[in-house]
Amino acid sequence: MSLSEKYKQAAMSLQMVQPFEGSRHVGWKSPSNIALVKYWGKREPQIPQNPSMSFTLSNSFTETSIEYSFYDKSGPKIHFTFEGKNELAFKKRIERFLESIIEYVPFVKQLELKIESVNSFPHSSGIASSASGMSAMALCLVSIENQLFGTLRNKSEFFEKASFLARLGSGSAARSVYGGFVVWGKHERLADTSDEVAVKVHVPGKDMWELGDAILITSSEKKKVSSSAGHDLMDHHPYAEARYEQAREHVPYLLEAMEANRDELFIRVVENEALSLHALMVNSNPGFSLMNNNTWSILEKVCDFRKDTGIFIAFTLDAGPNVHLIYRKKDKVQIKKFIEEKIIQFCENGYWIDDEMGGGPVELN
Ligand code: DP6
Repeated sequence: MSLSEKYKQAAMSLQMVQPFEGSRHVGWKSPSNIALVKYWGKREPQIPQNPSMSFTLSNSFTETSIEYSFYDKSGPKIHFTFEGKNELAFKKRIERFLESIIEYVPFVKQLELKIESVNSFPHSSGIASSASGMSAMALCLVSIENQLFGTLRNKSEFFEKASFLARLGSGSAARSVYGGFVVWGKHERLADTSDEVAVKVHVPGKDMWELGDAILITSSEKKKVSSSAGHDLMDHHPYAEARYEQAREHVPYLLEAMEANRDELFIRVVENEALSLHALMVNSNPGFSLMNNNTWSILEKVCDFRKDTGIFIAFTLDAGPNVHLIYRKKDKVQIKKFIEEKIIQFCENGYWIDDEMGGGPVELN
């Protein structure tokens, strides 16, 4: 049985909320993640066209708290503030999200929800907040389910449902409910992988793969083409099938590279993924590019630095012009020096975010 069927069946017993007095509270701090193998292309209902692999960050996160009370009309009734302000566009997105998952969490219809959300990174920094935002929201909803019905006391079932719901809010959010390295999307060679939820992957020689991520902001402008529009353009893309196959190969390559400490292979796969993603955009119909001159300058400097020093460093890109520098935490001093001397001039107002791999979401009391 698919998870979707399982949750629909289980939702039969989540229809009726026992009226309660006053309000209750849930809250989660959930981080963003950086994809090493990219998710780009999907089909209904939010099923990825290829498996992706990411690691979860630490310092770029969303904190969401929900104060909820019993609502005896047909709800849910929603109040939403982002960083203390009423953000209508965000509220609409949350409402659409709740509508799309109502069959899995029908109890929210009988609730009034006061949702407050804040990001650790500036809203207009060009960092996508859907992974952290939607995962924080999904975690809050499963916490509410648990408080009202006690159905998700088992930790792995709790996070599985959170990943399932987060995916329906934003694909990459499915991966943010776990710390460390995470795979989302069925891969026949990787046990337990699924299109419906993400799974944590265990990497031997873990210390070697404690990674840092320096997020270099080259532009904080709103993207001219959204990720959703980019995913849609993959539907009739001439290279779509080859791309999905490439990603299917890249996930096990990356795991092999980590197991065998093959740095060169790791770097090749990660950088190839970033460039392939942006090449797909250029080759879309209509084509577009999200990289700018500073993005290109940084990529060049990274390759030079690696050649000159032999230090492990790889660049990757999201669907935007900002560059993520992936490095080993033990090399942080040299990497910071490199950024300050050679890179910062290409960052908008010298701005970059010092992030690293993290342990996943944390419940707020
Ligand atoms: C390039 O998860 O933002 O960052 O599912 O439409 O919300 P939606 O898309 P989103 O796409 C992320 C694309 C990416 C690659 C990745 O994170 O895997």
